[in-house]
Amino acid sequence: MSAPTTTAVRPLRIGPLVSATPVVLAPMAGITNTAYRQLCREQGEGFYVSEMITSRALVERTPETMRLISFTPAERPRSLQLYGVDPLTVAKAVEMIVAEDLADHVDLNFGCPVPKVTRKGGGSALPWKADLFRQIVRGAVTEASRGGVPVTVKMRKGIDDDHLTYLQAGRTAEQEGVAAVALHGRTASQHYSGHADWDAIARLRETVTSIPVLGNGDIWSAEDALDMVQRTGVDGVVVGRGCLGRPWLFADLEAGFAGRPERVRPGLRQVTQVLRRHAELLCEFYEDELRGCRDIRKHISWYFKGYAVGGDMRARLGLVDTLEALDELIADLDLDQPYPGAAAEGSRGRAGSPQARVALPEGWLESRELTGAAAEMIRQAELSVSGG
Ligand SMILES: Cc1cc2nc3c(=O)[nH]c(=O)nc-3n(C[C@H](O)[C@H](O)[C@H](O)COP(=O)(O)O)c2cc1C
Repeated sequence: MSAPTTTAVRPLRIGPLVSATPVVLAPMAGITNTAYRQLCREQGEGFYVSEMITSRALVERTPETMRLISFTPAERPRSLQLYGVDPLTVAKAVEMIVAEDLADHVDLNFGCPVPKVTRKGGGSALPWKADLFRQIVRGAVTEASRGGVPVTVKMRKGIDDDHLTYLQAGRTAEQEGVAAVALHGRTASQHYSGHADWDAIARLRETVTSIPVLGNGDIWSAEDALDMVQRTGVDGVVVGRGCLGRPWLFADLEAGFAGRPERVRPGLRQVTQVLRRHAELLCEFYEDELRGCRDIRKHISWYFKGYAVGGDMRARLGLVDTLEALDELIADLDLDQPYPGAAAEGSRGRAGSPQARVALPEGWLESRELTGAAAEMIRQAELSVSGG
């Protein structure tokens, strides 16, 4: 692969917001809270998106959702991802975001493949109902525009290979005044299996011409990001699993897009310093040391991927419940280990097998219009739990 020249890379514009590095941290439930976003943002410029926030839970101001929408003063711009299935509730949530100045950018989730969500017609199931998709996007853009807040759409290719929605949804989003569209090159039925279809991303780029198109799926390094831009023509990349346990990937991405060769290759000491800080930020975020320590446990295997940290040590780290205990365990590691190379790179996080059948509301695929019982179901279907 030959790296593109710096002149080929343009800043990414999302409405009035600009990032010289065309990179977005993908929203990840349970991961991209303010603690993690902060670690990533310190590494490089970009858009760093919150976990998915459920519109209804926001409108109802559930305490957990109010925590999830917190941004530190240093976090600018503030990118908040919203999920919803009912146009009125989504519009109300955006109205609240604008009136209370809760975010600078709203991203709409049409990509979630989780059965709990698709069974209610939400996430990646929703664009199949073309009119419902349009109404949600229109309502969100109308409310957001009152505060000059750009709205973006994040979606998958469709429900499965026989029910693709992304090209039509991309055109609709463009017509309705969305500031950018992002495509994860998988269907809901693929879940996280196989490879993301970058050709589909290129097709969306050819179809949606007046706003930025962002590509998402299987970017594990700065080289992958440059490769995607070159192969698909996208205006920017959205990076999810590739940065798990590796917030410094954003430094690599910034360097890569600027045409610079340097990459962060940390030894174990540096890795543990970032891990420790992550844990501390999580404790602050939850205002609870035990909760913060419990949350860091899921990151441990990602941080140590490729480093010689034995199974017993990993198991003990996986039970850590205080920062002091974490410090003691870290002190027992061979911290002089250098970067292990390829073993620390490549895929990480969710993978797994395709879903045999995507969970959908009854009769969902029979028509692309929202009618009868499905319309009533949608009104009742707003989940009140965020980050799921
Ligand atoms: C743990 C986890 C949580 C996720 N949560 C969300 C979410 O809340 N909203 C969303 O739009 N996508 C979510 N995703 C999907 C990612 O944003 C991204 O589209 C997907 O991981 C593909 O990108 P990647 O190959 O760079 O990981 C999640 C993915 C993972 C692994």
